[in-house]
Amino acid sequence: MSFTPRQLNTLLSECRIADRFKIRRMIDRARKDEKILAHAAEKIDESIQWVEKRTNRDEIHYPDLPISARRDEITKAISENQVVVLAGETGSGKTTQLPKICLDLGLGCKGLIGHTQPRRLAARTVASRIAEELNTTLGDRVGYQVRFHDQVSDTTQVKLMTDGILLAETKHDRFLEQYEVLIIDEAHERSLNIDFLLGYIKRILPKRPDLKVIITSATIDLERFSKHFNDAPIIEVSGRTYPVDVLYRPLHELEGEDEKAIDMQQGILAAVEELLDMERKQGRGPQGDILIFLPGESEIREAADLLRKADLKSVDVLPLYARLSLAEQNRVFQRGKGSVGTRIVLSTNVAETSLTVPGIKYVIDTGLARVSRYSYRSKVQRLPVEAISQASANQRSGRCGRVSEGTCIRLFSEEDFFSRPEFTDAEIRRTNLAAVILQMLSLKLGDISEFPFVDPPDNRYINDGFKLLQELGAVDSKRHITRIGWQLSKLPIDPRLGRMVIEASRNNCLREVLIIVSALSIQDPRERPQDKRQASDEKHRLYAHEESDFLTFVNLWDLYEEQRQALSQNQLRKYCLKNFLSYMRMREWRDTHRQLHIICKEIKEQDSKFIEREEPASYEAVHRSLLAGLLSHMGFKQEGKEYLGARNRRFFLFPGSIVYKKAPKWVMAAELVETSQLYARCIAKVDPVWAEKLGPHLVKKNYSEPHWEKKRSEVVATEH
Ligand code: CDP
Ligand code: MG
Repeated sequence: MSFTPRQLNTLLSECRIADRFKIRRMIDRARKDEKILAHAAEKIDESIQWVEKRTNRDEIHYPDLPISARRDEITKAISENQVVVLAGETGSGKTTQLPKICLDLGLGCKGLIGHTQPRRLAARTVASRIAEELNTTLGDRVGYQVRFHDQVSDTTQVKLMTDGILLAETKHDRFLEQYEVLIIDEAHERSLNIDFLLGYIKRILPKRPDLKVIITSATIDLERFSKHFNDAPIIEVSGRTYPVDVLYRPLHELEGEDEKAIDMQQGILAAVEELLDMERKQGRGPQGDILIFLPGESEIREAADLLRKADLKSVDVLPLYARLSLAEQNRVFQRGKGSVGTRIVLSTNVAETSLTVPGIKYVIDTGLARVSRYSYRSKVQRLPVEAISQASANQRSGRCGRVSEGTCIRLFSEEDFFSRPEFTDAEIRRTNLAAVILQMLSLKLGDISEFPFVDPPDNRYINDGFKLLQELGAVDSKRHITRIGWQLSKLPIDPRLGRMVIEASRNNCLREVLIIVSALSIQDPRERPQDKRQASDEKHRLYAHEESDFLTFVNLWDLYEEQRQALSQNQLRKYCLKNFLSYMRMREWRDTHRQLHIICKEIKEQDSKFIEREEPASYEAVHRSLLAGLLSHMGFKQEGKEYLGARNRRFFLFPGSIVYKKAPKWVMAAELVETSQLYARCIAKVDPVWAEKLGPHLVKKNYSEPHWEKKRSEVVATEH
């Protein structure tokens, strides 16, 4: 068997991209071995057949959308450039039409058209929409892959997936050879995954000259993407939008979390009534549907209950969030089938840009979203509900100007709107860099300080991140990821908290530590109103643990569980009120706990130690585990009430803690918060000997009395 170099080139160019590189290597080796050459020829045949199954013979139809109108220009840009940035209003057809334009260009035969979405829900619905438009069944020409689920076959040309899936693929397909095109959708969201992908793709581009990349974004900060990819051309498609009337209906200014939550629900109901009334007064039947944006799943469920119970004529209340069943999700996207009257869709920010709910004429915007945010002040990562940016609020109101003129009711004031930041920050700016580094290590993305980020993080913070990872034992002194680091990378919580969970699995106290860790991930559910300090403190003292604020959480949890099982929801609310607990945060605590519990069950499949035992764990087991995440939050008592902590920081115990009175010799704290002074919040008495075992790399042993060694800024403990 022999080929001329030219024949070989033709053959190779005809086979699928992913195989080309493999066959090339085989042929190189084949100089010594005929058998390998035969094998390579076989592979070429297979590969050509694979390509032939995917020819683009069918004529593709385009619906009347702004993107379709600019097809020629977009086609030209894609064929002439390796990277194109495409921006346009939500609903202009970027997500659904771009893959079709690529197919029309003859792409998607030699390799896949990879198409990423920030959310699972979007990956699946977008795939089924494109399949429908191409007249094929899902899993045939158009498929999708999300965590735990995929529908991709060997005739698939367009593969929808979450950005997390594509990132994970880089681990075994370093040059993403199975793709001929990559569409990174919703890039303006600037999640960590998107930032990782944008950096990764930039790095492989020179080695993949045949790869086409399309970055799509809402019209936000486009120059930045273009610059990142060596001044890639930007195409901006203006959407066809109708005017949207924006009405401001601010909520009351209230203090307590629970009052605020109830007020928001009432505000939503009032807004729905106002909109339905508006229709009625104009003497028309329902003209369109209502889309309501809420911060999260529990708020959605609550509002859905309220709206269903309210006396609203002929409405259909439809929640929309990621954890719904497929059938329930589909109801939102199939208008007309079985729905009567006005549909009221309650959604998280998934419907802000990534999904189009058809038939929307009205939007009600609470102006809130749940955002993951790292506080440099308290050094914890949380998921607080926050006011959204102006850009987000405008995206939301824009959702009702698609089919005709629309109306948007904002449940906040115009003044409030203009006081908000223009854009939402990129996630990398909101995340503990230790967590970012850890993810990069587990994804094998290489050195963070050399990674081509769109917005490179500050070196100072990178060093802090590594320091913390070293303290937790997640990286070694050479900054290589350790076994603990691998485990930690699977836990999507603050690294300190994750480290506690891992240690707890070793110490048989997961039950307690999961309760504690989920409490630390949310805001303290105990309420302490200004004017009722004493009354609330009295109630809180009933389950307070004298030596540990952490065990206080466990006591509260157990007490509340008993009540929860005995009382109705209404009674439980009253119970919370009487005992100065926030009902909302108690529920959030349970939600967080449930999620952590599910993750531990997943980890248990590989590591049988992740079990929650029934029998109560000892003080030592629990606090040893917690200390694993808080080594540098240990302190040793000095003169007066002052403590000396790591890196020579001096702090005071928070007087609201019951442990304050006892003022133990050694303490650890969940948070060190800087106010007028540095305060340790959430504290417990510890034994310095525990630290020795956990952090031999941080502790020096040859002293007889525990003390602080100033020069080294390290904990120095008793040698027993
Ligand atoms: O990505 P982009 O926001 O630019 O638009 P798209 O998601 O491609 O949607 C384009 C249009 O397709 C929307 O305006 C909807 O009218 C329609 N569409 C739909 O009806 N049902 C879907 N599941 C997806 C899109
Ligand atoms: Mg889109």
